[in-house]
Amino acid sequence: MYLACTQVLCSPACYNLAQIVQLFVTYNIFCKAMNIEITKITNSRLSETDFSDLGFGKTFSDHMFIADYTGGEWRNFRIVPFGNITISPAASVFHYGQAFFEGVKAYKHADGQVSIFRPYKNAARFNRSAARLCAPKVPEQLFVEAMARLIDLDREWVPQHVGNSLYIRPFMIATDALLGVRPSDEYQFMILTGPSGAYFPKPLNVKIETHYTRACEGGIGFAKAAGNYAGALMPSQLAHKEGFDQLIWTDANKHEYIEEMGAANLMFVLNDTLITASCRDTVLEGVTRDTILELARYEHMNVEERRVSVKEIIEGLKDGSLTEAFGVGTAATIAPIAAITFEGERFQLAEAPETSFSKRTLKKLNDIRYGLAEDTFGWNYFVQNF
Ligand code: PLP
Ligand code: COI
Repeated sequence: MYLACTQVLCSPACYNLAQIVQLFVTYNIFCKAMNIEITKITNSRLSETDFSDLGFGKTFSDHMFIADYTGGEWRNFRIVPFGNITISPAASVFHYGQAFFEGVKAYKHADGQVSIFRPYKNAARFNRSAARLCAPKVPEQLFVEAMARLIDLDREWVPQHVGNSLYIRPFMIATDALLGVRPSDEYQFMILTGPSGAYFPKPLNVKIETHYTRACEGGIGFAKAAGNYAGALMPSQLAHKEGFDQLIWTDANKHEYIEEMGAANLMFVLNDTLITASCRDTVLEGVTRDTILELARYEHMNVEERRVSVKEIIEGLKDGSLTEAFGVGTAATIAPIAAITFEGERFQLAEAPETSFSKRTLKKLNDIRYGLAEDTFGWNYFVQNF
């Protein structure tokens, strides 16, 4: 680590100031605090992996990170071969669902460097989920540096091509073997990674849901709680049977306001203004959402974060003032919507041209993430050689 640090500082032409500052922080943290025991795999599965047909979430890299929470603190930091774990069948995660996760991505640049996109935003949200689910927080440095160390070890698993990336799945589960309903005293925090391709391979045919609900005021919709996804399965399955790819979730009270789409935030271009639902108890505060709003404001586009009514969206679809609709998320990236159905009436959206907001913003975002354009926002966190 010391050598890596010296090397970087001796070759400033290759690294910008943000990277040098980041390296100093990394160096201090590792020297002072984080002791990760590493057990390497004996036979890598890399050569058996078909990088031309990745899909999403099917393939896992060679190693995973695990930390235990016992006696009121995080301990036993370790990187081990990816594989099954043993926990008690009485563990509270199985019975009362104290479980939550994050989704993050890492990208390989043309020069071989690997960067993680805005991991501190995910660390902060992970801890907001932890607070809501009565679980312990994970120090942000632990969250990010454990991830960086894991990715460094499995660097070869990060796909090279634009459109592909390394998906990173940090998560926490409650492990107390006790059937009383109360917050667990013990937890495991783990990180898995795996190369992934597109989550949505084609423009989406979606339905505005007016019966089932994903989240309600005072609930856990803003947290990335596992239970939110379990509750969404059945309505999504019904929608699939009707031929839809995804559901647009609306408010629990009267189903009059748009909230999210499946596992992504939702944005529209209406009268040349970018609009999206404001964050509240019922809406997950997406990292991609924040990124796209920042890029839009940077190019002086009108942006509105507010309650978005179903009525105005339908009127916009009818009179043509709604020109773009797309989901935004880590897995989803920017996923265009081709058709929206409301109460049995289907509205088709013309394919957005290359100059449209969603297409040019996806290009800008990819250019930053894959190192093809300067990262003036400081969003890329570089994985050092440890
Ligand atoms: N909303 C939900 C319910 C999600 O699962 C996700 C995916 O993470 C998002 C929104 C988008 O969030 P992000 O951009 O941080 O991935
Ligand atoms: C992500 O975009 O990272 C998500 O968590 C969505 C996932 C549920 C597929």
